[in-house]
Amino acid sequence: MYRIIKKEALNPTVSKMVIEAPLVARKAQAGQFIILRVDDRGERIPLTIADYDREAGTVTIIYQIVGATTMRLDQLQEGDQLADFVGPLGRPTEVEGKKRVAVVGGGVGCAIALPVAKALHAAGAIVDTVAGFRSRDLVILEQEFRAVSAEYRLMTDDGSAGEKGLVTDALRTLLEQNSYDEVIAIGPLVMMKFVCLLTKEYGVKTIVSMNPIMIDGTGMCGGCRLTVGGETKFACVDGPDFDGHLVDFDQAIERGRIYHAYEQERCNLLKKEVRE
Ligand SMILES: Cc1cc2nc3c(=O)[nH]c(=O)nc-3n(C[C@H](O)[C@H](O)[C@H](O)COP(=O)(O)OP(=O)(O)OC[C@H]3O[C@@H](n4cnc5c(N)ncnc54)[C@H](O)[C@@H]3O)c2cc1C
Ligand code: FES
Repeated sequence: MYRIIKKEALNPTVSKMVIEAPLVARKAQAGQFIILRVDDRGERIPLTIADYDREAGTVTIIYQIVGATTMRLDQLQEGDQLADFVGPLGRPTEVEGKKRVAVVGGGVGCAIALPVAKALHAAGAIVDTVAGFRSRDLVILEQEFRAVSAEYRLMTDDGSAGEKGLVTDALRTLLEQNSYDEVIAIGPLVMMKFVCLLTKEYGVKTIVSMNPIMIDGTGMCGGCRLTVGGETKFACVDGPDFDGHLVDFDQAIERGRIYHAYEQERCNLLKKEVRE
C-alpha cells in the first residue's frame, strides 16, 4: 500500500499529492509516469511524476479531477493509502546537451511540463516557459516555473491573468526573438497540434508528451497506440515523448473520444453515489 503523506488543492479542480513510494522515487526521472489504482476494484490510470524525493522516498503527483477515478482519488485524505502505484514507466525526457528550450504548458499539462523544465534548467539549458490557462483561478505552478525560467509568459483565454491570448501567440514572439534547440509542448491534443504547426514554420524541432488511453503501461495491450511518422508506436513504452512534427494528431484526437459516453456514465453514477 502507498500512503498519502500530503494533499493540497492547487485550484478548484487540480490537486497535488505526495505519496510514499520509495522504490519508484529511487529510479524516477523527468518525463516518466506511474499507473495507480485507488482501491483493489479501481481502474488503472496514468499520472506523470511531477516531482520526487529520493531521500524521503516520496513521489509527487498532480491531477485534474475530470472523471470517476480522479474523483475517487480526490476523496482520499492524508494518511489514506492507494492500492497500487506502479512505476516509473515510459522513457525519460532527453534533457542533456541543449542550449535554449521553450517549454509550453497548457492547463494541467503544466504539471507534466514542470519536472521537464526543472530538469532542463538543472542540465544547464536556458528555459523559456509559456503557460496557458482558461482564466486566473485555474493558474497553477507559476512560482515554480518562474524559479527555473529565464522568461515566463502567462497566457489566459479571457485575459484575467497575464496576457489575453493563446500559448501560440506568446510562442510566436519567442520564436521571433530567440534561437531554440527545441520546443517542448505538453497539454491538450489540440494545443500541441497547433504548437507543432507553428514550430514547423520556424523549422524548430518539437517534442510533445502524448496522453492516450493506457491500461497496462508496459506495451502489452495496444490501448495507447499512436501513428508517428507513418508507424504504429505505443506511448507507454516508446514515449510518452514523440517528435510532434511526425504525430498524427487527428487520429489521436479521434481515439481519445472512444470511451466518452461510458466515462460520462461512470462519472454520473459516482456523483449520484456521493449525493446519496
Ligand atoms: C502518460 C500519461 C500521463 C498523464 N499525466 C497526467 C497528470 O500528470 N495529471 C493529470 O491530471 N492527468 C494526467 N493524465 C491523464 C489522466 O490519466 C486522466 O485524466 C485520467 O485517467 C482520467 O480518469 P478518470 O476516470 O478520472 O476520468 P474519465 O472520465 O475516465 O476520463 C476522462 C478523460 O481522461 C482520459 N483517460 C481516461 N482513462 C484513461 C487512461 N486509463 N489512460 C489515459 N487517459 C485516460 C481520457 O481522455 C478521458 O476522456 C496522463 C495521461 C497519460 C497517458
Ligand atoms: S498501455 Fe497497453 S500498450 Fe501501452
